[in-house]
Amino acid sequence: MPESELRHLLNWNEVPPGTWAHCLDRTAAYACGEGAGLGPPAVGAGVGAPVVGAGSGAPAVGAGREVVLVFFNDSLRTRVSMEMAARGLGAGVSTVVPGQGTWGFAWGPGAMTGGEAEHIEEAVGVLSRYADVLGVRLFASGTDLEADRTDARLRQIAAAASVPVVNLESAWYHPCQELADAAVLYSLGFGSEGERARRGKFVLSWAPHPRPLPMAVANSAMMAAARLGMDVTVARPGGFGLDGAVMDAARAAAAGSGGSVEESSDQRAAFEGADVIYAKGWGGMGRYDDPAAEEAARTALLSGPASWRVTRKLMDSTREARFMHCLPVRRGVVVDADVLSHPTAVHLDQAEYRLHAQKAILEWIWS
Ligand code: CP
Repeated sequence: MPESELRHLLNWNEVPPGTWAHCLDRTAAYACGEGAGLGPPAVGAGVGAPVVGAGSGAPAVGAGREVVLVFFNDSLRTRVSMEMAARGLGAGVSTVVPGQGTWGFAWGPGAMTGGEAEHIEEAVGVLSRYADVLGVRLFASGTDLEADRTDARLRQIAAAASVPVVNLESAWYHPCQELADAAVLYSLGFGSEGERARRGKFVLSWAPHPRPLPMAVANSAMMAAARLGMDVTVARPGGFGLDGAVMDAARAAAAGSGGSVEESSDQRAAFEGADVIYAKGWGGMGRYDDPAAEEAARTALLSGPASWRVTRKLMDSTREARFMHCLPVRRGVVVDADVLSHPTAVHLDQAEYRLHAQKAILEWIWS
């Protein structure tokens, strides 16, 4: 199939809004264990959604299809839930970790005189002959800002593929997490549509971390809430602003669905009246090529008056806000354990919804 006709999911900004809405509905349906139908389910309904077509006499949507997952970086949730989603739809699934039992891949145009035995162009070409969908996890380089903010390596893979490519977290976006998070928020009654919907105040709260983490989840979490039409506040220290282009995309998405997006460097003020707190650490874009400056900025911050760690006291200043995190999370660094164990925390629901969301995505690609 010509590349232009392929249903890649590199990020939701490049997919028609109707497809996003359809996949959100289908995620909600899978979460209800229906595999069909619309409407917000209750979170924590369980992961036992049936194979599509089971009991109906119709073949499962993935029957006879194969999914190949390529993980350049570690994963727990994405790897397990994507394998389960493919199997749950009746498809076969194979997982590849480049350099671990397979050849390491070279990327550049030059002679391959280094340790890598295979070029990414051949590797993707070969996997396209085996698979009906390629899932790829490929984090930010952390050193080449322009390549990361354009997801250059993921696009290189998509260009070399002759089957749809699903982004399993790239340098700049995590669309599977984005859909799952939006569906959790929707199930909690947030958003601009539906009988019981209310906009709600969503705070993306920058969190401390020993390393300058990539911005993919932060970008996608903000986009999820903005697409739903929530009032989004990005609370982050000075010098830790997100990419202006992503902020613009979030503002446009929020405006289109009745919400708003603003920024604040005052975490305490941002938490007041919040309905949802989403904690996530990320590095400073302005210090991308200067690790020493990034380390100094982080050290200065953590010795300052605001810890930025999410504490029970901070949560008590909200409107009994739900606590969200994509996981994995560092207890006592990003958030205190008593916030995670509180009934308002929905981080495990987010992880569960990854399975439902990825079924919805595969179903859309194959429909
Ligand atoms: N949230 C998420 O993507 O988790 P993993 O890194 O474990 O896949």
